[in-house]
Amino acid sequence: MDYSIETAPLEDLQCDCIIVGVYQDQQLSPSATALNSITHGLINTIVSRGDLSGKNGETVLINAVPDSKIERILLVGLGENKPLSAKDYKKALLAAVNSLKKPQIKSVVCCLAECDVAGRDRQWKSRHIIEVFNDAVYQFTHTKSDKETESQIQKISIAATEAERTLAHSGMLQGKAIAEGMELTKHLSDLPGNICTPTYLAEQAIELSKKYASLNVSILEESDMTALGMGALLSVSRGSRQPAKFITLNYQCGDKDAKPIVLIGKGLTFDAGGISLKQPAGMDEMKYDMCGGASVLGTLLAVAQLQLPLNIIGLIPSSENMPDGDANKPGDILTSMSGKTIEVLNTDAEGRLLLCDALTYAERFNPEVVIDLATLTGACLVALGRVTSGLLGNDDALCNDLLAAGETANDSVWRLPLWEEYQEQLKSNFADMANVGGKDAGTITAACFLARFAEKFRWAHLDIAGTAWRTGPTKGATGRPVSLLSQYLINRAQQPKA
Ligand code: BES
Ligand code: MN
Ligand code: ZN
Repeated sequence: MDYSIETAPLEDLQCDCIIVGVYQDQQLSPSATALNSITHGLINTIVSRGDLSGKNGETVLINAVPDSKIERILLVGLGENKPLSAKDYKKALLAAVNSLKKPQIKSVVCCLAECDVAGRDRQWKSRHIIEVFNDAVYQFTHTKSDKETESQIQKISIAATEAERTLAHSGMLQGKAIAEGMELTKHLSDLPGNICTPTYLAEQAIELSKKYASLNVSILEESDMTALGMGALLSVSRGSRQPAKFITLNYQCGDKDAKPIVLIGKGLTFDAGGISLKQPAGMDEMKYDMCGGASVLGTLLAVAQLQLPLNIIGLIPSSENMPDGDANKPGDILTSMSGKTIEVLNTDAEGRLLLCDALTYAERFNPEVVIDLATLTGACLVALGRVTSGLLGNDDALCNDLLAAGETANDSVWRLPLWEEYQEQLKSNFADMANVGGKDAGTITAACFLARFAEKFRWAHLDIAGTAWRTGPTKGATGRPVSLLSQYLINRAQQPKA
């Protein structure tokens, strides 16, 4: 995809379609007003006839404009004539791009950055145009014979005045970096478990480091993990024929002595549940159990492209969780890297077994903060659905920063309590803790388990089980929470140094 800022007058633009907004009270946006006079009142005619009510998300495509160089105009309803909410803005952008999925339309100029969005500036609006458009045109074709995608859009320009160019441009660059990060995340997540194995994921991390000189990658093999004592992680991979990989990405563009931000992503390339086997219905979706790991890769791609002045470590413990003669059995007791012992009461609660050793491993980086992201519990879907990710952590300031970043990025998180009372549920008669806490408050008890391995640093956990992919007819990865994490890191990079 090609992105640019366009400052030329609308009548001179060379593109397949110009996108402009119209409000519900028939008020035209400034660009729509300009096009209306170029076309001798065409847009007003359409609106006054009632062919476009201006409701948010409604669209009308004018596919021929006589006596003009303009090929097509897309009118997009913006709703009430007042500053749009961020969510309504996204809705209008989505409607626009979805109505342009036609083979003839390859290049578009989007004039919607001129709409007022409550509390948001040009930079934010430009960034969101790129993010929403890129997200909507993504289509997974890697394993299809027909590689043709519904959308043929290859070039997106954002209309701006000369005065607005600088802000629009920086928003565009942010949008491009984040959109490309999300695209990588979605692609890896959509790949099936027989292609995207732990080894494949490690290879992709190495590929990424070849594209960005600021990224260094190292891979721990099972023998290295044995030497480190990662008994919890290795107990999961023992049941799989695919060797586990522990991927470390190192990005050091901050002050030499600045402590790193550590991101940990669950990289289960397939979760069958192990001996506590899952139900067959929907089990294919467990190829998405590596979305956390893929989001770490996507976020680091965005960070490297934006050259943020930060030090960041990405950790991706990666394995399969399969039933096997050598797999974990209910009742087995493991010794984690921290030395703490764990009784496995359900082999399907495997994510926390990988993450606990990754958290212990994170200690060696002397982190500023640690954020883990994982498709950890079905209970999170029950509690929060597919709208917002679960957030739990041991530090209010970090949690508040993530809440704020999610709000800005339109990639929200919602905090759940991580109180001492819930720790009770993890009691075991035979080990330091059980790996499950019963049926109540499953998302919280999973985080309680992780918290026991995160006592030495400021830590937050994102449960993305509901938000990382869509189910049903539009089944596919969403690329969340790359946008949220990128925003958090952009904000960190702008903070004055302590
Ligand atoms: N990967 C799953 C969680 C999951 C389930 C994500 C459904 C998305 C949709 C995780 O490894 C798991 O199996 N968790 C168990 C935990 C339980 C055994 C305590 C779950 O949620 O059922
Ligand atoms: Mn599981
Ligand atoms: Zn899992």
